[in-house]
Amino acid sequence: MQIGGYTLSHGLFLAPLAGVSDRSFRRVARRFGAEYTVSEMVSAKALCYEQISKRPVTETRVRTAPLAAVLREEAPMAVQLFGAEPDFVAEAARLLESGEYRGACGEIPPAAIDINMGCPMAKIVGNGEGSALLKNPALAAEIVRATARAVSLPVTVKIRAGWDAESINAVEVAKRLEDAGAAMICVHGRTRAQMYAPSADWGIIRAVKEAVSVPVVGNGDVFSGEDALRMLRETGCDGVMIARGAQGNPWIFSEVAAALDGRPYTPPTREERLAVALAHAEDIVREKGERIGVAESRKHMAWYLHGLRGAASARNAVMTANTLDDLRAIFSSLMQAEP
Ligand SMILES: Cc1cc2nc3c(=O)[nH]c(=O)nc-3n(C[C@H](O)[C@H](O)[C@H](O)COP(=O)(O)O)c2cc1C
Repeated sequence: MQIGGYTLSHGLFLAPLAGVSDRSFRRVARRFGAEYTVSEMVSAKALCYEQISKRPVTETRVRTAPLAAVLREEAPMAVQLFGAEPDFVAEAARLLESGEYRGACGEIPPAAIDINMGCPMAKIVGNGEGSALLKNPALAAEIVRATARAVSLPVTVKIRAGWDAESINAVEVAKRLEDAGAAMICVHGRTRAQMYAPSADWGIIRAVKEAVSVPVVGNGDVFSGEDALRMLRETGCDGVMIARGAQGNPWIFSEVAAALDGRPYTPPTREERLAVALAHAEDIVREKGERIGVAESRKHMAWYLHGLRGAASARNAVMTANTLDDLRAIFSSLMQAEP
């Protein structure tokens, strides 16, 4: 599929994951086959306020802009904005495209501006943002229209099936977003009320795909190559977006690519899994410094160790690691241990 100037041969997307899909996570996902990544969600309003703030730009004060920074090596990567006010979302998008935003540590503009219309968190929907926009399709469309007018980058949207079981309206919303200028729509087949369980309804992805002519990316419950094939077959979607299935398992993208190509897939060995996990932690520390980096690495390391024989006590040890050397020691004894 095509997005902006980019062609994705397998249509493999790494999903936006607040608190997870930072640069290190995106990097390791891309290494193993993710063709397109999305930033963690970024507040449009915070980005705009930081821009007009009179306070000096320092790492500690500017907290939003680094989340939206895109390096050359990361293309194609979208930046995802959340917000409920068309002017703020449009202005934040303009700042990102022009590279004007304060504290910018990126090298290139994003491949696209993605707008979050799926986040279920109370503090987000309480402001009318994220999935709350599904309750107001006219406003959702206005946000896309204003943003598409403000930038020449593609404007894409990530939606859910609807707000709750009584108001499943992804098809209506998707049509209005397409009319307003959305260049691609990603559908997570759950309502806001369902949060992340039970299983996603792929029927709604199919219904959206049949209703619009822009590319539709399916999302929800892809945890293997077989899942991805089934989603593509059952929904006709143009691409597959993976979130939780990539946590501690960036190889899922190689697995899906192999399934699409009809090639056999060889999962990583225990040694490779451990080596990639540790390299991931080292990369987080390089990006964020040791104190924050080790703290943020813990959950990733626990995901990598999940299901690995003999790793239960190492998972506990990871949770109390304070330095990179602590992590190295844990991984080194795992590597020497008999599986
Ligand atoms: C920890 C976490 C953070 C998330 N953050 C975002 C986000 O910032 N923006 C967004 O659109 N969706 C976010 N999502 C939703 C995922 O992108 C995805 O739609 C959802 O997890 C379903 O896909 P999956 O079954 O592949 O996990 C988040 C999900 C999780 C679990």
